Amino acid sequence: MRKLEVFDTTLRDGEQSAGVNLHRHEKLEIALQLERYGVDVMEAGFPASSQGDFLAVQEIAKRVRNVSVCGLARAHVSDIDAAWEALKEAVEPRLHIFLATSPIHMEHKLRMTPDQVVEAAVSSVRYAAAKFPVVEWSAEDATRSEWTFLARIITAVIDAGAKVINLPDTVGYSTPAEYVAMFQYLRENVPNAHCVKFSAHCHDDLGLAVANSLAAIASGVEQIEGTINGIGERAGNAALEEILTALVIRRDWYEVETNIELAQTALTSKLVSKLTGISVPPNKAVVGGNAFAHESGIHQDGVLKNTLTYEIIRPEMVGYGSNKMVLGKHSGRHAFREKCMELGILLEEEQFNALFNAFKSLTDHKKEVTDDDILALLLESGQQE
Ligand code: KIV
Ligand code: ZN
Repeated sequence: MRKLEVFDTTLRDGEQSAGVNLHRHEKLEIALQLERYGVDVMEAGFPASSQGDFLAVQEIAKRVRNVSVCGLARAHVSDIDAAWEALKEAVEPRLHIFLATSPIHMEHKLRMTPDQVVEAAVSSVRYAAAKFPVVEWSAEDATRSEWTFLARIITAVIDAGAKVINLPDTVGYSTPAEYVAMFQYLRENVPNAHCVKFSAHCHDDLGLAVANSLAAIASGVEQIEGTINGIGERAGNAALEEILTALVIRRDWYEVETNIELAQTALTSKLVSKLTGISVPPNKAVVGGNAFAHESGIHQDGVLKNTLTYEIIRPEMVGYGSNKMVLGKHSGRHAFREKCMELGILLEEEQFNALFNAFKSLTDHKKEVTDDDILALLLESGQQE
């Protein structure tokens, strides 16, 4: 099994979600939970972006002792200096410098020539490497960049001192096969590639962030980036908890190990949702409210006989108490009988049949039948005093 490093950016890219603004003490609370979750690196913020973020990163750097704390910077000396001031007391401070490499970004956003971009990338990495033990360099919009230009600039920043090369799918444009091909091309065409770790960072504009991340992992990247609950700019980042659960459930395929405590998943997801105010959709993989709920009679019957029939993840593995049988119009006798037993309702077969029929009629009007509904049906049927 090879080791995969987990880089969490909930507190930086995740906080860039529209409408999210975390207070310093909220960022610290999430940081301490990410430490319990077992991430290897946490990007705590962008120190040069505001005084509030500077102070938040500084506090996290002092309080988090088991995880490398990272800060984001543009290729500007003032950003790098601000990040160093915020991070210098961290156990292993990391600087994450980014600079766009795609023609569209270089021409229209940076208004720089490719040569100027290479020069700015090299000088900023060299400056940062003199302060930080680890400098990660990101080619922003890598997936819309020319591969030959990527090879040129990556070779130069590795020579200047970068230890991690991150290739973000900044606008969620890539596909699994294309993303893998880009990493392979760069490993083969960057002569000093063996000196660094490669990292994948995906956005979800086409709903492919997790698939692209997993493809990059299968192709050999040493670090994966993402956010809890997949929060982030626009459609968000790759949902870390989904990737990390897939790596465990499909260990046979990915053959990587992480330091993650998967049982902390539920708590981490709930905390991020509560403090950011972004609710988790019920059907979201792993952490959605329905992720372990079974509604149809056929599924409920299967799960009651053997959970493996319809559950590939044990709920307790990711920190949830148990699965949930939702009683609705698709539910069958087996699940209804289990529910009655759970509620202490013991009936003769004929009485049970009558109660089951009453329950079925109710499901024509009600999507989900609760315990109270069943007790009310029992009272109405006169089978209970
Ligand atoms: O998606 C992206 O390109 C980023 C960079 C800042 C690394 O988040
Ligand atoms: Zn991003």
